[in-house]
Amino acid sequence: MPRFRAIALAALALVLPATGSRAADQVNVYTYRETKLVQPLFDAFTRETGIAVNVISASSGLEQRIKAEGANSPADVLLTVDIGRIDDAVQAGITQPIKSAVIDEIVPPQYRDPNGHWAGISMRARVIYAAKDRVKQDSISYEELADPKWKGKICIRSGQHIYNNALFAAYLAKYGEQKTEQWLRGLKANLAQKPSGGDRETARDVAAGKCDLGIGNTYYWALMMNADPDKKPWAEATKVLLPTFDGGGTHVNLSGVLLTQHAPNQANAVKLIEWLVGDSAQQIYADSNYEYPIRPGVPLNATIAGYGKLIADPMPIAKIAAQRKAASILVDKVGFDN
Ligand SMILES: [Fe+2]
Repeated sequence: MPRFRAIALAALALVLPATGSRAADQVNVYTYRETKLVQPLFDAFTRETGIAVNVISASSGLEQRIKAEGANSPADVLLTVDIGRIDDAVQAGITQPIKSAVIDEIVPPQYRDPNGHWAGISMRARVIYAAKDRVKQDSISYEELADPKWKGKICIRSGQHIYNNALFAAYLAKYGEQKTEQWLRGLKANLAQKPSGGDRETARDVAAGKCDLGIGNTYYWALMMNADPDKKPWAEATKVLLPTFDGGGTHVNLSGVLLTQHAPNQANAVKLIEWLVGDSAQQIYADSNYEYPIRPGVPLNATIAGYGKLIADPMPIAKIAAQRKAASILVDKVGFDN
């Protein structure tokens, strides 16, 4: 057995109760989210339902782990972020349809899998961190990012990162290959530097004057502003613009849930998934993660609301997922990261 797997299984043994994973009163969640973010939520679920939630948190490899565990996997629910990771889990064959009238009613159709394998529980948008002192306009389009007027003024992380892969896939879903290639070449020509770092470093570079526009996710800006004093100046030097596609809306991605293929506590898993789209859970979850609630009508976190009204692009996330591979190929073709 490879060493990492032995360690993973040992960790699992510590967390899951020795009585086995099929007891009537529990559910097992594997997640890429940090425990401190999700534990208050699961504690509330346990208080309300009496169902214990056992959490395995990791930064990578959960799909492979569930696959390796096979029919004996204790995992019931996979809680993850980004359609890239969600789609990877479905492609790995480790999920099954969530059959729930509650999910079908609450989660708008564009934010769940037509085949039922995943459902969004909150949204993040891929937006612009604009230099406050150098960018006068307060609206912008994604198309415009390829306009030569921004030559040498844009910073972005790798074009192959899942967040950009989804944005580029959305562009493909809307405009097709030829126009997307053209746009990617234009965007590439406008970069101030080789794609690098993460979204926070992008804000850092805008704040330092290396570029005027940075592309990043909505929650990072809020985290820097509210929860990371060292990086607060990067948020303070920038303003968030919610870009839109011409005639469309802002590109959003999901934090989502999947039901595992062999879920030993399937009924409890569906209960938890349904609970996650309830009013109180939605508010706690979206507020603690600085994301947009999936359930219409739930109040936004104040910082997020401060970005302005989000008009999400109507393109179904499943259609974006279908273009992921093509987007990755185009990124290589135009040498985006070179
Ligand atoms: Fe992130």
